[in-house]
Amino acid sequence: MSTVHVVSHPLVQHKLTMIRDQETGPKDFRDLVDELSTLLAYEVTRDLPLEDCVVETPMCKMTGRVIAGRKIGIVPILRAGLGMVNGVLRLIPTAKVGHIGLYRDPETLLPVEYYCKLPTDVEERQIIVLDPMLATGGSAAAAITYLKKLQVSSIKLMCLLAAPEGIELMQREHPDVDIFTAAIDERLNSHGYILPGLGDAGDRLFGTK
Ligand code: PRP
Ligand code: URA
Repeated sequence: MSTVHVVSHPLVQHKLTMIRDQETGPKDFRDLVDELSTLLAYEVTRDLPLEDCVVETPMCKMTGRVIAGRKIGIVPILRAGLGMVNGVLRLIPTAKVGHIGLYRDPETLLPVEYYCKLPTDVEERQIIVLDPMLATGGSAAAAITYLKKLQVSSIKLMCLLAAPEGIELMQREHPDVDIFTAAIDERLNSHGYILPGLGDAGDRLFGTK
C-alpha cells in the first residue's frame, strides 16, 4: 500500500488556508500555489539518493554529496497542474516537463484526455505528477495509468488537497504511488467537489469564473 504524506509544516498550512479563502483573487492564488508547490517539492524529494563527490572549497578539498540516481520529470495534469510547475522547477531546475491534458466530464465525473506530450526518455525518469486537487481520483489515476503504459515505473503524486475518495481510488489502482498533500479534507459533494476544499482550482488560478 502506498504512503500518504500530509505535509503539516506551518508555512504549508498557513498558505493552504489562504488559498481556501474565497476572497483570495487569481494573482494571490497563483502566487500561493507556486509557493506551496516549492514547499511540497522539498518533501517529495526527501528520499532522493545521494552520492559522494569531491569539491574544492576556497580552503581545501572535501567530499561533498550530490543527487544521484534517476533524472526527474514532472508531469502537470492540465490545466490546474500548470500552476504547480514553476514552484517545483525552482528546486529542480533540470527536471523535464511533460503535460497530460485531462478534464473531468461534469456529468460522469470521468476524466477525458485531450493532450499529451512527454519527454522522450520518460520511462527512465522519476516522475512527479502534479495536480492541486485529488477529488474522485479519476484524473490522477488515469494520468498514472497512461504513464505506466509507457513503462514509467517510478511515480509520485503531489497535490494540495485530497479527498478520502480520491486517496482510496489511487491506493486501489496504484498502490505503488506515494501521495503528497497539504491536507486530507472531509468528503466530496454530489458534484464531485472537495468539501470544505477551495472550489475549482483551474478557474481560481486562471480567473475563468
Ligand atoms: C480538476 C483538477 C483535477 C480534477 C480532479 O480539473 O485540477 O485535474 O479536477 O478531479 P478528480 O480527482 O475527480 O478527477 P478539471 O477537470 O476541473 O479541469 P481543469 O484543471 O482544466 O479546470
Ligand atoms: N476539481 C477542482 O478544481 N476542485 C474540486 O474540489 C474538485 C475537482
